[in-house]
Amino acid sequence: MDLELTPEQKLIRDTARDFAQKEVAPQAARIDKEHRFPSELIAKMGELGLMGIAVPEAWGGAGMDAVSYVLALEEICKACASTGVIMSVNNSLVCDPLVKYGTEAQKSEWLVPLATGKKLGCYALSEPEAGSDAAAQKTSARLDGDEWVVSGTKNFITNAPKADVVLVFATTDASKKHHGISAFLIPTNAKGVTVGPPDDKMGIRGAHSSQVFFDDCRLPASALLGAPGDGFKIAMSTLDGGRIGIAAQAVGIAQAAFEAATKYAMERKTFGKPIAEHQAIQFKLADMSTDIDAARMLLWRAATVKDEGGKFTKEAAMAKVFAAEVANRVAKEAVQVFGGYGYLADFPVERHYRDAKITEIYEGTSEIQRLVIAASVLRD
Ligand code: CAA
Repeated sequence: MDLELTPEQKLIRDTARDFAQKEVAPQAARIDKEHRFPSELIAKMGELGLMGIAVPEAWGGAGMDAVSYVLALEEICKACASTGVIMSVNNSLVCDPLVKYGTEAQKSEWLVPLATGKKLGCYALSEPEAGSDAAAQKTSARLDGDEWVVSGTKNFITNAPKADVVLVFATTDASKKHHGISAFLIPTNAKGVTVGPPDDKMGIRGAHSSQVFFDDCRLPASALLGAPGDGFKIAMSTLDGGRIGIAAQAVGIAQAAFEAATKYAMERKTFGKPIAEHQAIQFKLADMSTDIDAARMLLWRAATVKDEGGKFTKEAAMAKVFAAEVANRVAKEAVQVFGGYGYLADFPVERHYRDAKITEIYEGTSEIQRLVIAASVLRD
């Protein structure tokens, strides 16, 4: 793996960093406190090419690679993890499968507005009774003449309250188990679609998620993404990319918590000197910094393997589980460095601690990542 970034990769990282620090970071505390969806930031990110980074330019994207994507996403997430996951879902979970499996007509209708930030997408796999066991889909789609009729309930769907289109996985032939799952692109304003109220969450409060209900929602044949029965493969291969995005989010949260803790440790005095001069604090900062570098290396490796066109399931799962646990360790230690002040919402580490938790849960829990890694280690 070449650790030297190309001029293009440095440019997108610097563009994202500049935007994130000037426009996103100053709003992050308020976005969290008010549970406010940052619509105006998403629109600007569309103009900067950040909503479809790896989408070919012909389809409205920035035409860049996965390494560029994680560099930019880390910067946005460092400023605001809510804004970052809205970007991640649109890029990894909606634009990516459209690029890979979409027809020309689907790309014209959806990919161009999604990649330019004019529309927003969401990805609906989880259900009340199908989370980690993603193949246990109860949502169904049946053919009636030349129309598909979709019914069922989806849970925890990030972006749903603001999305224009939802990528839905549904069982089209229950006898075939996971080979009987298909994928559909459904406009959220279609008849028979109801989006529930935003979930009240511990963290990433600006990234609205909700249930989505499908009640005999009738769709033309052209709503099918890929072939009938390919849905589970599309869902899983899409999540491989998504997990790289969440690893980038975790590294961004960890970096933000680490920088806040380091700055505070140099300012705050106890026993007559800055706490950074006490070994107890130095050891914490050393471990935090080493953990973050290791997580970032796994992240860059996963993105590099993706860019090289190889299978990256294991590398993505390793990056995701490690980075998520690093974000949680680092944010917890950052709160400790701040002491009592770290427990107050007045300081950012309290938000980083709450935001970090979700990275161990969504897009596959840490337990699921370990299953994926073990399956690969034992097979290959
Ligand atoms: N790429 C392509 N195909 C894959 C694949 C991958 N990464 N992983 C599995 N498959 C295929 C297998 O090859 C197999 O195909 P065949 O039968 O044709 O050989 C098929 O899928 C079934 O594979 P498994 O037997 O391994 O499947 P399983 O039912 O045991 O499930 C699992 C495996 C890894 C546990 C999977 O269910 C899983 O990933 N669960 C977690 C779900 C998840 O991550 N949900 C996140 C929701 S989205 C979200 O969180 C978004 C958000 O809010 C931000």
